[in-house]
Amino acid sequence: MLPDAVAALRCPVCSGTFVLDHQAQLTLKCPTGHAFDAAKQGYFNLLTGKGTVFESDSAQMVAARQRFLDAGHYAPLEEAVAGLASDFLDRPGSLVLDAGTGTGHYLRTVLDASPKAAAIGLDISKFALRRAARLNPEAANLVWDLWRPLPVADDAVDVVMVVFAPRNPAEFARVLRPGGTLIVVTPQPGHLADLASLGGMLKIEEGKAERLAATMSGYFTEAVEHTLDVPLVLSGSEITDLAYMGPAGHHLRREEIDALLHGRATLATTAKFQLSAFTGGPRLS
Ligand SMILES: C[S@@+](CC[C@H](N)C(=O)[O-])C[C@H]1O[C@@H](n2cnc3c(N)ncnc32)[C@H](O)[C@@H]1O
Ligand SMILES: [Zn+2]
Repeated sequence: MLPDAVAALRCPVCSGTFVLDHQAQLTLKCPTGHAFDAAKQGYFNLLTGKGTVFESDSAQMVAARQRFLDAGHYAPLEEAVAGLASDFLDRPGSLVLDAGTGTGHYLRTVLDASPKAAAIGLDISKFALRRAARLNPEAANLVWDLWRPLPVADDAVDVVMVVFAPRNPAEFARVLRPGGTLIVVTPQPGHLADLASLGGMLKIEEGKAERLAATMSGYFTEAVEHTLDVPLVLSGSEITDLAYMGPAGHHLRREEIDALLHGRATLATTAKFQLSAFTGGPRLS
């Protein structure tokens, strides 16, 4: 499956195609001679130059996210995303791009539901990709900044999925084949409201009504929107994980989050998601 994904990749330096060289170590090589070795966990770092100023999720934040997702709290969301994607991934060689793949958790569910599909996972955090590469070894897992032109060919992808990660509509439209779909998951107003109100500083993913469709409208023609509410009953360490895996993890230590929660043993709250499925119209040039 990795070779199918490699065929859709483009060298970030010269836009050349890649071949996968298996000699001493797994390497992506373009005809001009640019080469990117796999890390020992199996992901590739394609970022060149100085890298980005973005503050990526720490190893501890990534571990918290993996624990929380592995416990199955967001399983209804995983299944909903996999269901939306599967209609577009039923032929051999079909390709899904997971933008901001994180630990690869959602992509795993998508690939299990669509076993013929190849996959590319992009994320700026190498800590996240170490886990994603273990979970999804058949995918091309790449360290990349979603705000840069994506290292992916035009019209090569059947499904772009973006679960709580940055959206670059121009690039998503460029890589998506005509008739493909872009699946975007965003928080709805009131998402995890009980957590946010529990500790004053525990910012969660923003829940404000976003004009998502407006930001996509220059590139995508229509959206089907679904909402999904997932009731949660969480124990003490799960509450901390949920807070720590979000924006609060960037500016608070785990102990500081625990202190804000005042030893809270359980929390009932509701995760409120919006799933938007856009279909690509003719690409604007
Ligand atoms: C809230 S997490 C969501 C991860 C995954 N989709 C999930 O739901 O579990 C956001 C992810 O976006 C990644 N990210 C943020 N900014 C990025 C950027 N500019 N380029 C690539 N990845 C980025 C982060 O490293 C993180 O893994
Ligand atoms: Zn090159």
